[in-house]
Amino acid sequence: MNAHIVLLSGDGIGPEIVDAARQVLEAIAARWKHRFDFSEYLIGGCSIDRFGTALTEEALMACKNSSAVLLGAVGGPKWDDPSAAVRPEQGLLALRKGLGVFANLRPVKIYSKLVGASPLKSEKLTGVDMLILRELTGGLYFGQPRGRFFEDAHEKAVDSLVYYDYEIERIVRLAFDLARSRRKKLTSVDKANVLESSRLWRSIATAIGKEYPDVTLEHALVDSVAMRLVVSPSSFDVIVTENMFGDILTDEAAVLTGSLGVLPSASLGDGGPGLYEPIHGSAPDIAGKGIANPIGTVLSAAFLLRYSLKLETEAAQIEAAVEKTIEAGIITADLGGNSSTQAVTEAIIQSIH
Ligand code: IPM
Ligand code: MG
Repeated sequence: MNAHIVLLSGDGIGPEIVDAARQVLEAIAARWKHRFDFSEYLIGGCSIDRFGTALTEEALMACKNSSAVLLGAVGGPKWDDPSAAVRPEQGLLALRKGLGVFANLRPVKIYSKLVGASPLKSEKLTGVDMLILRELTGGLYFGQPRGRFFEDAHEKAVDSLVYYDYEIERIVRLAFDLARSRRKKLTSVDKANVLESSRLWRSIATAIGKEYPDVTLEHALVDSVAMRLVVSPSSFDVIVTENMFGDILTDEAAVLTGSLGVLPSASLGDGGPGLYEPIHGSAPDIAGKGIANPIGTVLSAAFLLRYSLKLETEAAQIEAAVEKTIEAGIITADLGGNSSTQAVTEAIIQSIH
């Protein structure tokens, strides 16, 4: 198969971990006689430095015309001034919106070897295997009106939590489909005791649930889910929620595994190119040292093969190779090991036959 993959390394450790994932994709291409070609564009702080904007039109067009996009991370202290007119994160939001990737899949899987790195007691981790589906192109991140206004001698700031019915329908439907392929339990997370948008969300989830009698639907309030994630994380299978609730809950859920560094994500839309990125940030404190954990990005590349290129065998092969590498203790410092980014990458490639 031929595929054209856009690499957006971004800032901080981005270039190191995207390079690792590219090596793994090249090993897969060689093993299976695929042809992947890669092109690279800037996003985030490095793009601001070069072009004055966090994502150029040219870069966005290249992404839109690709088979899939693999992204590292954006941001860093250099661009963190809250009064700055342009911010690295704007590039990421423009990319998500521009590609129309409304569904962000963030699985939380526990590797037995890493249980000791988790802040939770190991008995709480037994059976934890959840998939959080975060709505990615609506809600508070994009709602209008938005801005800062002067009113009666006071400054006022406004963000709006807006959802159209069709935006809720498509993400909830995908959540039911994913739950159907797993343990058939769906938790729809909202704040329906307070928010109008949550009440619409809840009624749509209930209505769609009638089409999925084999899936158990539970509605839960976001504050209580925040608590249950640490008290009884194994009680979840698929969780679906709006953009900002999902942002917060996925960081919380991610630390259950012991490190943000191992978690991949896939962002999918209606058939266009998918966007794949690790869920961790740009870790500027360790950038350039060759010690960043490449696993979150390598597993994101596996998702790219599975969801955008439909190469299930190849995706599973990367996942098995990662598991083997972790089991062998070839891990970076964030996981308690002392292997370099390149050593982990080479160990993964070694296991791809
Ligand atoms: C994430 C990140 C982003 C978000 C930031 C960098 C804009 O936290 O992907 O979870 O809030 O979506
Ligand atoms: Mg986040």
